[in-house]
Amino acid sequence: MATSNVKPATGKLGIMVVGLGAVSTTFMTGVLMTRKGLTKPVGSMTQYDKIRVGRGEAKKYLKYNEIVPIADLNDIVFTAWDVYPENAYESAINAEVLKEKDINPVKDELLAIKPLKAAFDKNYAKRLDGNNVKQCRDRWDMTEQIREDIRNFKKQSGVDRIVVLWAASTEIYVAPDLNGTHASIEALEAAMKANDVEHIAPSMCYAYAALKEHCPFIMGAPNTTVDIPAMWQLSEQMQVPIAGKDFKTGQTLVKSGFAPIIGTRMLGLSGWFSTNILGNRDGLVLDEPANFRTKEVSKLSTLESILVADKQPDLYDNYYHKVRINYYPPRNDNKEGWDNIDIFGWMGYPMQIKINFLCRDSILAAPLCLDLCLLMDLAHRAGRYGTQRFLSFYLKSPMHDYTVDEVPVNHLFQQYVMLKNAIREMGGYEPDEEID
Ligand SMILES: NC(=O)c1ccc[n+]([C@@H]2O[C@H](COP(=O)([O-])OP(=O)(O)OC[C@H]3O[C@@H](n4cnc5c(N)ncnc54)[C@H](O)[C@@H]3O)[C@@H](O)[C@H]2O)c1
Repeated sequence: MATSNVKPATGKLGIMVVGLGAVSTTFMTGVLMTRKGLTKPVGSMTQYDKIRVGRGEAKKYLKYNEIVPIADLNDIVFTAWDVYPENAYESAINAEVLKEKDINPVKDELLAIKPLKAAFDKNYAKRLDGNNVKQCRDRWDMTEQIREDIRNFKKQSGVDRIVVLWAASTEIYVAPDLNGTHASIEALEAAMKANDVEHIAPSMCYAYAALKEHCPFIMGAPNTTVDIPAMWQLSEQMQVPIAGKDFKTGQTLVKSGFAPIIGTRMLGLSGWFSTNILGNRDGLVLDEPANFRTKEVSKLSTLESILVADKQPDLYDNYYHKVRINYYPPRNDNKEGWDNIDIFGWMGYPMQIKINFLCRDSILAAPLCLDLCLLMDLAHRAGRYGTQRFLSFYLKSPMHDYTVDEVPVNHLFQQYVMLKNAIREMGGYEPDEEID
């Protein structure tokens, strides 16, 4: 019998979500409805997936919580920050993702989730115009105020542990300043104190505050927030895990699952054009070129590490990869994505593949939020810190140490092996790659 060295998940788990929009309210409503037995947490691997442990005669298939101690859904307590003052019930209704019949049974719980004032800077998301915003002297003060929010929430709710999840709008692109502001903890703190608003995004204040308060931090948007050496160092110094970036929900999930077919079958690729129409507030923010840039960088990274020109120059040299997101209000959260893939086969003859995914953005993102929060809490109790690469499975642009040329793993099935092996290891079983 394997023994896990992970601390037990005793007491309550606080989940503090930055942003109380479509994704967050769909996530919260689903958890609360599941708790009442009124729905099923479909799409959540922590709730459904079974992993093989042991080999041969001794092999068995166990759910995650039979291998490692995972927090129970009944022990979760939510709160959030947002630029707009609407509570989680109003926000869920406004988002129009879920039908009222799927929200009303947990109305009271949602009404009680009133957003804390946001740490916000309009220059980072010009299309947003809410007034539920903190007054801050500088970025350091912003960080201090967020830290106070975290401490107050802990005291008032009586939770034992807290995870902070960014499910707020995508900020404008902040290029990592590797020789300056983002190079070390000291440089980052100095820039916060000097109110360097160009290099310190509000999201960095949330992340810094979370880590200083011993809370794991997850970046669900493509922001470069914790993808910089200063945050990696802070995560190690505080011994608190970080994960990011950008939930892998629709088109990129398909891409990271489909590209391996081309790569494994030794077919060539001459181009991959991905486009989307999307009409929710996320789409509105991404309609701003500076915000779209952040998303574009994240979405483009997926193919390059799966179909690698250096490894197969005949097949993957110079393929054209383009990603577009178009704001189209009538579709709201029901995003439609088209992928046109130009491949070539025997003797270079061209062929095409078309994929048309009519998805629901927040319905796909909600189970990822749940899994990421539960697995980050697990990782923290297991004594892990730094970038949690085993969570790459859930992320469009998995964090990796690019300063030493570490390559990200984007291949969906390799990511799944990493995820399973981490769970096995934390559960005291041997990691392996045997076919299940
Ligand atoms: N749904 C998906 O499939 C998916 C996939 C990958 C990433 N994402 C990312 O998840 C995030 C949330 O998406 P959504 O559809 O819920 O968007 P949304 O616009 O409905 O919600 C985001 C909320 O964040 C708030 N906000 C913005 N800046 C803030 C700040 N500094 N502090 C506190 N609150 C702030 C906004 O007011 C808004 O209410 C976006 O960044 C999106 O790009 C979503």
